Amino acid sequence: MKVLLLNGSRREKGCTYTALCEIAQTLEKNGIESEIIHAVPTTEIVKDVAEKIKTADGLVVGSPVYWASPSGEIISFMDKLASLAGKDLLHKPAAAIASARRAGTTATIDVLNKYFSYYQMPIVSANYWAMVHGNTPEEVKQDAEGLQIMRILATNMAWLLKCIEAGKNAGVEIPEIEAKIMTNFIR
Ligand SMILES: Cc1cc2nc3c(=O)[nH]c(=O)nc-3n(C[C@H](O)[C@H](O)[C@H](O)COP(=O)(O)O)c2cc1C
Repeated sequence: MKVLLLNGSRREKGCTYTALCEIAQTLEKNGIESEIIHAVPTTEIVKDVAEKIKTADGLVVGSPVYWASPSGEIISFMDKLASLAGKDLLHKPAAAIASARRAGTTATIDVLNKYFSYYQMPIVSANYWAMVHGNTPEEVKQDAEGLQIMRILATNMAWLLKCIEAGKNAGVEIPEIEAKIMTNFIR
């Protein structure tokens, strides 16, 4: 089983990456493979992730807080990924994590969770809202509570993936998809 971890920061190896590494290590301890991808919203990288999500079992989307919101980069990336590979996101467990110096984390997580709830993805939680604090990786490494949240989130992700796998083996199928009804408030 494999989880894709998207880093929506402009910094490839900054605070968001540090939090994602904690998740990756815990997934590995639980026997789950993972890959951290720097989610630069170029056509090439979006296409690469769209291809990889087909066989991935879960998704974690990480963003720094920019102006009390997710980064423009991760919004652009997720908009493109949803158009290109929405059907491959369906029913896969997902989580959003945020990294900030101080504030805007819950708004950031809330925006990212919207992609997951549209695509019927079970949202994985921890023992607090999934955030770390810091301006540098060294500061994030001092955020003991934040790192614990990342580990608990990863443990819960591993548990849920194993439950889904066990369910499939016992004959519990992914729900059938009803054709989408779209109204526009006129009729
Ligand atoms: C353009 C920009 C806007 C930011 N806005 C906020 C903000 O609204 N609230 C906050 O707490 N930190 C803010 N920060 C700080 C980053 O969220 C914080 O340093 C984060 O941990 C960086 O993660 P990264 O190293 O993965 O990029 C901002 C940083 C930048 C570059």
